Amino acid sequence: MEGDLDLLFELVSRRSGSALSKQQRERVQQCAERLRGGRPWPSFVDELHGRQGAMALLELLASASVHKTDLFRDEPQLEALERYVLAPLAESGRALQLWSAGCATGEEVATLLLLLARVGANPASRVLGTDLSASALTQARRLTFSDEAMRRVPAALSERWFRRNAEGLVLDPKLSAQARFQQHNLVETPYPFPEVGTGFDVIVCRNVLIYFTPEAAERTVGLLAERLRRGGTLVLSAAEPILKPRADLETLRVGGTFFYRPRTEPVPEVRAVPPPRPSAPVPVPRPSAPVRVEVAAVETKSPEQEGEELFSLVLEWSAAGQPDSETEAGLRKSLYLSPDLAAARYCLGLLLDQRGLRADATTEYRRALSVLQSGRARPTPFFLNPERLAEACRRALSRLSA
Ligand SMILES: C[S@@+](CC[C@H](N)C(=O)[O-])C[C@H]1O[C@@H](n2cnc3c(N)ncnc32)[C@H](O)[C@@H]1O
Repeated sequence: MEGDLDLLFELVSRRSGSALSKQQRERVQQCAERLRGGRPWPSFVDELHGRQGAMALLELLASASVHKTDLFRDEPQLEALERYVLAPLAESGRALQLWSAGCATGEEVATLLLLLARVGANPASRVLGTDLSASALTQARRLTFSDEAMRRVPAALSERWFRRNAEGLVLDPKLSAQARFQQHNLVETPYPFPEVGTGFDVIVCRNVLIYFTPEAAERTVGLLAERLRRGGTLVLSAAEPILKPRADLETLRVGGTFFYRPRTEPVPEVRAVPPPRPSAPVPVPRPSAPVRVEVAAVETKSPEQEGEELFSLVLEWSAAGQPDSETEAGLRKSLYLSPDLAAARYCLGLLLDQRGLRADATTEYRRALSVLQSGRARPTPFFLNPERLAEACRRALSRLSA
């Protein structure tokens, strides 16, 4: 049984991202005892790896979670978020898209809705709340809170936006109509998209990654950053700073706290040298070779141009037999530099598709198609023209959905 339990803990840790503490292991074991019924341990653990055990596995993952939360948790950070991030965004007048990733029982979603109301954001703004735990989400959807959870809410806000019923304090329907909830495991892709557009203005993921293994936390930060719109803001809690510097994010220090933003400046290490002219019989550069940095070009090239150049290089490397993992990294880097490079997005879809990652491939094809349909796509003279590319995306999507 001990070996089976180790396998169970390993599975739960890998699929939830969580580095299981002693208490979490105890909770997982108790939950497993209940779900197992009379079945022998080995067949129960085996079943969890397949379709049949999917629901039980979700319950086990949720049993490892800690749902402790309150409204207005960490006021100084929220004050800075309101003043330096939300208020300037609200001035634009457009509907904002926020995401509370790991929203537990909804307190953080309600807090964000209150902050949006206070800065006078467009009422069509949305706050998406996601969590691994189905039972936490059931409670979250009620947007009804205890006095204990409400104790930090400024009186003016609680009087204006809550009314009491038998269950507690209920958020005004004007604000709760702006909330959406969805079950989502941060370890799994694809990540949710906002209701409008392809990136969120603000993603709040607080007190979730502290429970993660360092590898899962790092991967999650990267995936969350990919879901930000340009100039978007990632909010982690003060207890979970990003310790390793990242090429994709820069730290914004404001009001005694810090947030993260996708870098807008190209990072020198990822700069690409223009591809060799087709007629020149020069050897194809390998990605492992040191990348030459042309300082003079830094002022003259936009990140989009760099992304395009890198994309053409990646295609050449790939034709020369570069491993798929390096092609994928090159494509992602091109897209980081130039997010509207629909051709690179389509190629990334193809690559994921060939590797059997259907859901991820579908996401990339969809994103390519949406960029093409919006008219924002960067033209890529050496690749399919936009109409053909859009058609290729449509065909790929209909094949994958068949
Ligand atoms: C301590 S609560 C944080 C709630 C809120 N963000 C806050 O700071 O007050 C952590 C939440 O993260 C969720 N969680 C843990 N692992 C997760 C995962 N892999 N994917 C999505 N949510 C997860 C848990 O279910 C739990 O509700």
